[in-house]
Amino acid sequence: MESLEYFNHLEDLDSESKYLAHKAKEAAAHAYAPYSKFYVGAALIFDDGTIVSGANQENAAYPLCMCAERVALYTATAQHPEKKIAKLAVVAHKKHHKELSPATCCGSCRQVLVEFEARQNKPISLIMLGPDQKWIKAPSAASILPLSFTKESLDN
Ligand code: THU
Repeated sequence: MESLEYFNHLEDLDSESKYLAHKAKEAAAHAYAPYSKFYVGAALIFDDGTIVSGANQENAAYPLCMCAERVALYTATAQHPEKKIAKLAVVAHKKHHKELSPATCCGSCRQVLVEFEARQNKPISLIMLGPDQKWIKAPSAASILPLSFTKESLDN
């Protein structure tokens, strides 16, 4: 299995990944995060180049908050059920902070991403800002969620 790649600068990534990170940053402007003040944007690209984005949406009833990645994923499949997702980028920032904040996909989003990979029978490459302001490129969601719970667990 391919492994994670680390980059010191966004400029070191391929142009599609850079563009997607830029679209994710734009999407973060539409975050509704009055409680955490942690603004997250996600942007994904289908095989045909179509881009769909999402931003985190919070609620006074905290457990109802929804991550940017899942907003983007569910929007994408609701609008384009026939298309396959090739890559997803996620970026985050805190209010008044100039730098982007590290934000690797949470466990719930990884689980949802793994389901999307199974549905479309194709890995989804991930671009995220990790600790130490290093960009991380993961070849798939499955690669960052070992031993995930899948449909096969339910089949008998
Ligand atoms: N959040 C995301 O949108 N994506 C992540 O990968 C991590 C966390 C959101 C959820 C919540 O609105 C805020 O960030 C703080 O956890």
